[in-house]
Order: sequence, then C-alpha cells, then structure tokens
Amino acid sequence: MAWRSIISREYILPERVQIFDTTLRDGEQTPGVALTKDNKIEIAKALDELGVDVIELGFPIVSKGEEEAIKEIVKENLRSKTCVLARANKLDIDKAIECEVDWVHIFIATSDIHLKHKLKMSREEVIEKATRMVEYAKDHNVTIHFSAEDATRTDLDYLVRVFKAVEEVGADSIDIPDTVGFAVPSIIRIIVSTVKKSLEVPIAIHCHDDMGLAVANSLTAVESGAEIIHATINGIGERAGNASLEEIVVALHTLYGVKTNVKLEKIYGVSRLVEKLTGIIVPKNKAIVGENAFSHESGIHVHGVISSPQTYEPIEPETVGRKRKIILGKHSGKHSVMELARQFGVRLNDDQAETILREIKNIGDLGHKINEIQFLEMLVGVTDRCNIYKKAVIKDICLHSTETGTTALLHLNILGEDYVLTGFGRNEIEALTNIYYTSLERTYRSSLSDYRVWLAPSMKLVSESEVILCTNNNNEVVGRGIHHSHSIAFAQALINALNQLLEKEEMRND
Ligand code: KIV
Ligand code: ZN
Repeated sequence: MAWRSIISREYILPERVQIFDTTLRDGEQTPGVALTKDNKIEIAKALDELGVDVIELGFPIVSKGEEEAIKEIVKENLRSKTCVLARANKLDIDKAIECEVDWVHIFIATSDIHLKHKLKMSREEVIEKATRMVEYAKDHNVTIHFSAEDATRTDLDYLVRVFKAVEEVGADSIDIPDTVGFAVPSIIRIIVSTVKKSLEVPIAIHCHDDMGLAVANSLTAVESGAEIIHATINGIGERAGNASLEEIVVALHTLYGVKTNVKLEKIYGVSRLVEKLTGIIVPKNKAIVGENAFSHESGIHVHGVISSPQTYEPIEPETVGRKRKIILGKHSGKHSVMELARQFGVRLNDDQAETILREIKNIGDLGHKINEIQFLEMLVGVTDRCNIYKKAVIKDICLHSTETGTTALLHLNILGEDYVLTGFGRNEIEALTNIYYTSLERTYRSSLSDYRVWLAPSMKLVSESEVILCTNNNNEVVGRGIHHSHSIAFAQALINALNQLLEKEEMRND
C-alpha cells in the first residue's frame, strides 16, 4: 500500500473493489480465439478459485455451443456470481434469463457516432429503449448490470441522463465502457466523478487497451469512485485487449492498499491456463505474468536482489505464484554465477566464478543464450568434478515400478558417510519425496515447500527440476537438477537443495 495515505489526501479510496472478470466474454472476442465448452468450464472453475466476484460467462445469443457452455457452468454452482451479456432487446434478454445466471449485463450504445452509424436512432429513442428493456428484465427478477457502450465518446450530460433513467427503472449497477480505448486518465476522472455524483448504484469501469491506457484508466476510475472493475486474464480481448486483471489487482493491492477477493498467489496458474487454452501467447515482458517479470540478468541487479530482493523487485515473486529467476548472459556478474552454482549444489571460489563469467560473456557477445546444460558443463570444467565440493552426493538411484507403485532406493554419501534410503509411492517422484519425508526432513530440520519437474524443449527435451526446501527459520533454498529422466532430475534437485542446507549449517557453525 505504497501510496494510499498520499492518494487519500486528494481522493476517497474504497476499502475494497469488486472484480468483474470478462475473460470468457470480451476475452473470447479476441480475434482468432474460440473456446470449446470444456475449455470454458475449466477457465470458469479457475476464475472461481482465483476469487473474482463476477464471471461474465459469455454472450448466449451468439451460438448454441456458447449457450450450452454457459448453462453447464451455471450448474457448477460456483462461488463467484455468474453473468451473461445481452443487447437491449427482448430476444437477447430472454436468452440471458434462460441461462439462470445471477446478473444480466444489458448494453446499448450511447455515443452519437454509434447512434448515427450503427443504431440509426435518436438519443431519445435510445433512452426509451434502454429503460423499456431494463424494466422488462427486472420483471423477471434478475440483477441488472447496465452498460452504455462507447460511454467515453458520449456527450457527458446525455450519458448521465441515460444512467439516471435506467437506475430509476431498477438497474442494480451501471458500467462505463471505454469501448475503443479512447479515454485518458483525466477524462476518466471527469466522467466517473460526474456520474458518481448523480447516481446511487455502484459504478463499474470497462477499459480497452487501444492506447495502452486500460490499466491506468481503470485505476483512475477507482480513485474517482468506481467500485467494480471489468478485466480479463492476460489482458486479452477485442483488438488490443481489455484491462489486465493481474495488473489491476496487484496494483490495487500493492500501490493503493485497496483490497479485492482475488487470491494473488493463484494469478500465475490462471494466466498460464488462459494462455494454453486461448493460444494467445503472453509476451515475455508482460507485467506480473510475463516470463521475464521476475528474471534478472544484469550483474548489478542480481547482486542487489541477492542481498535484498526489494532493491530490484517491486513485489516478491511468490506473492503472485512466481519464482525469481537468474538468467546468465553477457550482462551477468560474478554473483549470478555463484548463486546459480549454489543452486546446483556447488560452491565456487572467486577465480572459478570469474573463469565461468568470462566464458558466459564470450558466448553472449556472439549473440547466443546460455542454457543450464552449458552452465553445468562450465561448472564441471572449472571444478573437475562438481561433486568434490558437495557435502551430499548421490552415489546411485534405483527405481523399481510394479502395478502397485514404485520403490525408490537412494544411495547417498552425506558428509563422508554412506546411507541407503528407501521410499515407496504411486510413482517415481512420490517414492523419492517419501524418502525425503521419512529419512531427511527431520534430520535436516526443513520442509519441502515446493517442487517442479518439467521438460525443457529448448534443451532437446531434457528434464529440469527445481526443489524448494524451507528451513525452520523460514529461509528457502532452491535446488536444481537436469537429466534425461524426470525422476533423476528431481532427485538431483532435492539433494542439491540439501547441499545448500548443509552449507548454511556449516556457515552457522563457522
Ligand atoms: O467494450 C464494450 O463496450 C463492451 C460492452 C459490451 C460492455 O464490451
Ligand atoms: Zn469491451
């Protein structure tokens, strides 16, 4: 909540705002995106888990499949409120009511541009139609969210008249869409505060990103009195997209101290799911969810982040379900090399780190990237055998699977003593984690807080693994492993994390 007290001198900030997610409606209107029924159900469940207040499930009049998907999702009895879109006509509204959602989102355009070129109606005719249709829907006992399409290009006095008219006949909340992303923050401030003064019902904002201002405009709307924000995961949507849910929620939480019901730590998982199912790739440099959002390459930054993450990170990556990444390249410094080596269980001295750094910079100058296998080869090059610096070494791994499960046998040498440990599980990884739980967890006073195993296509389908152990005093160590087998990569990562615990222990004893 960096700025709350300062902003509050000028504006009245709410304690909490509602997030109206439109990934499954405006987001699906992204050119080239068509979600199947199953895709929509999976995303709706993930949004519900994420904690959004309202999910706009779709526009039921557009197709039979859309209508069926909406009805299936409604049957899931999600905690989030459900909503569908309808134009201000009886056919659309009847279809929407049939879906048995919590909210019906009725819209009609109000700008002169739309009245003249699309609706061919006068301003008075639009008010008459809007009120008649809101009344009609209200007669069916539904909650009405009313949008004046192209509101930001609508004459402001007329916009207020439209909103007051629909409020009088029962609209439960009204929405101000910046349909073609034409507004700037100061205009949003004027529109939202003017509308706010004239109405009792809650005000929502719906911003498009045609000028890259959707998030800034949405946040300005909150400063000016909006209590509901429309947004999509990864900012997908018509043309340049909608306001990004993840950016808005994190900014509200971190910069404004305004709460939402969104569980921040689930953001990254939902972002990946939406990326996978829509096929819209998240740019690497996208805030919060882009691959590089928590990656550091430059030596100065890595040095800063290692001594105190807040030097170059506005929020902890874990807050939004991410992990910090150190990338090796020509901008790297010695600290990056030492830190990454530590994650592979190797402690380098200054000379060894310098040698590797020179090699990395040479490769970088030729315009190439350094992957983890190359880095491991460099480690082996400078240390002869990496293991000589390790306190815990894997001497052998044996995995035996039958129909009932897998037995893992791990032969370790820890501080010069040999141990043969066994574990059983439903699969190889579970058998290995059970070795940790039964034989290592207590001895090394740690807990397994997270692990990942994945195929790295950029490295000819080698498996990579990352294991995070948390010490009793809440310090985390990250171990990494690489191997052609998933399970062996995992075992390496686990033991490399253990090595770091042993090193930390030694440092404490020194
Ligand atoms: O951008 C827009 O105006 C819309 C409306 C239907 C709310 O998506
Ligand atoms: Zn829109």
